[in-house]
Amino acid sequence: MEISVRIGDISSIEADAIIVNLFEGTESLDGEIGAVDRALDGAISQLISQGETKGKLGENTLVHSLGKLPAARVVVVGLGKETELDRDKVRGAVGETCRMLRGKGVKNIATVAQGAGTAGIDYEAAGQVIAEGALLGLYQFRRHITSKAEHGEIEQLTIIDSGGANIPALEVGCRKGEIMAGAAILARDMANEPANYMTPTDMATEARRVAEAYGLGHEVLEKEQMEELGMGALLGVARGSHQPPKFIVLRYEGRNSDEVDIALAGKAITFDSGGISIKPSNNMGDMKGDMAGGAAVMGAMAAIAQLKPAVNVLALVPATENLPGGNALKPADVLTAMEGKTIEIISTDAEGRLILADALGYARKQGAKRIVDVATLTGACVVALGTVCTGVFGNDQEMIDRVVAAGTEAGEKMWHLPTYDEYKEQNKSEVADIKNTGGRDAGATTAALFIGEFAGDTPWVHLDIAGTSRTDKQKNYYVKGATGVPVRTLVNLALSLAEKQ
Ligand code: BES
Ligand code: MN
Ligand code: ZN
Repeated sequence: MEISVRIGDISSIEADAIIVNLFEGTESLDGEIGAVDRALDGAISQLISQGETKGKLGENTLVHSLGKLPAARVVVVGLGKETELDRDKVRGAVGETCRMLRGKGVKNIATVAQGAGTAGIDYEAAGQVIAEGALLGLYQFRRHITSKAEHGEIEQLTIIDSGGANIPALEVGCRKGEIMAGAAILARDMANEPANYMTPTDMATEARRVAEAYGLGHEVLEKEQMEELGMGALLGVARGSHQPPKFIVLRYEGRNSDEVDIALAGKAITFDSGGISIKPSNNMGDMKGDMAGGAAVMGAMAAIAQLKPAVNVLALVPATENLPGGNALKPADVLTAMEGKTIEIISTDAEGRLILADALGYARKQGAKRIVDVATLTGACVVALGTVCTGVFGNDQEMIDRVVAAGTEAGEKMWHLPTYDEYKEQNKSEVADIKNTGGRDAGATTAALFIGEFAGDTPWVHLDIAGTSRTDKQKNYYVKGATGVPVRTLVNLALSLAEKQ
């Protein structure tokens, strides 16, 4: 789909459909919707007076223009109360509307600059969220469906604004939104692939493609190099699988310095059967998405490479399957992580923290000044927060605040959960330095604290995306399957650090 920006009057635009906005409680229709209403001889006013639409968020009313306008259809999109509008509501409204119009076979849409000039949304932000909402909402994963889709793709979305002065800002926002959405879609595509199409080797291939497309430094460590580096925790998890593990490294240099301003580490278990501590078979297939953290980090790097913030970013993606093969890791085994700590295995299903232990060991060896890790880590986090927000943990309040703020800007909700020292008791082992599960209580926190042991004194934030990386519902700009969370948060984080350096 091509997204463009044009000066003009929405009521005189030729398109298959035009989109205008209605706020809840609007008394008289003026501005753009007013002009469209007049051209339609008061059809929109009548819809409102008859209670057909109230402008509530999520309302989408389709009107046929019957030759009274150059556009065949008008969609009146409810944005809720004007005082309660925010950028994420615009993303959601645009996503829903675009999907509805695609279902009607529409190819060419024009929209007003939704949200611009209200609720602190400037024109650049409006351009960005409209592009993000449209692209993410229209996303489909059809790679393995050989039959043709019922409806073709929307080909053109044009943002129309009557004020020529706003066009450059809308344009800048649009381009940023396309990059952001493209990055999230990259992550969605990877996480939606079944595990036989997204092995660690496939992830490494995808990483090379991303690196070459956007000019990133790129390296893949093979098993032998992992052995040399002493990545015993990652290698321990990989033992049950015939697929060779890969440790993927992507490097973005935004400023002329050897310093690593931030390392992003993403869990990439391309299939998590649980290993010898095998999972029940119900919904086990969802565990094809246990590499969503790694995919998010790779997606974020694609966007960072295009937006070019003045910050150096190192992406680390430890990738392996977690399977119960004959040589697999067993409960009670002891592993030695890269930086020397020994780990008692209680459950082979607590594998994410193991591979991240070595990723953090590598980040520290590279001298990373900050570390953020992203992982579909615990069912306990889903119990605590559901699928609404990502769990945030860390050892540095300034970093935690920065990540939560980056999330808010992206419309990716984040909630800080505790890592009090008292919880560390639960991870104590009698046979090794630490054990890999801390029992049922506060399971998301003890998992975070395990990873935190390997962050040492480096400012570190851990994002548990077990509940947010996929969704069963089609809603707003989300469709069933992988969400691409928290790609846009990570990109915003890198942009915010660049302002700080
Ligand atoms: N990948 C899972 C966590 C998960 C659960 C992600 C649900 C997405 C949805 C992780 O590797 C795991 O199995 N965690 C265990 C840890 C336990 C053994 C301490 C869990 O949460 O049950
Ligand atoms: Mn597991
Ligand atoms: Zn897992």
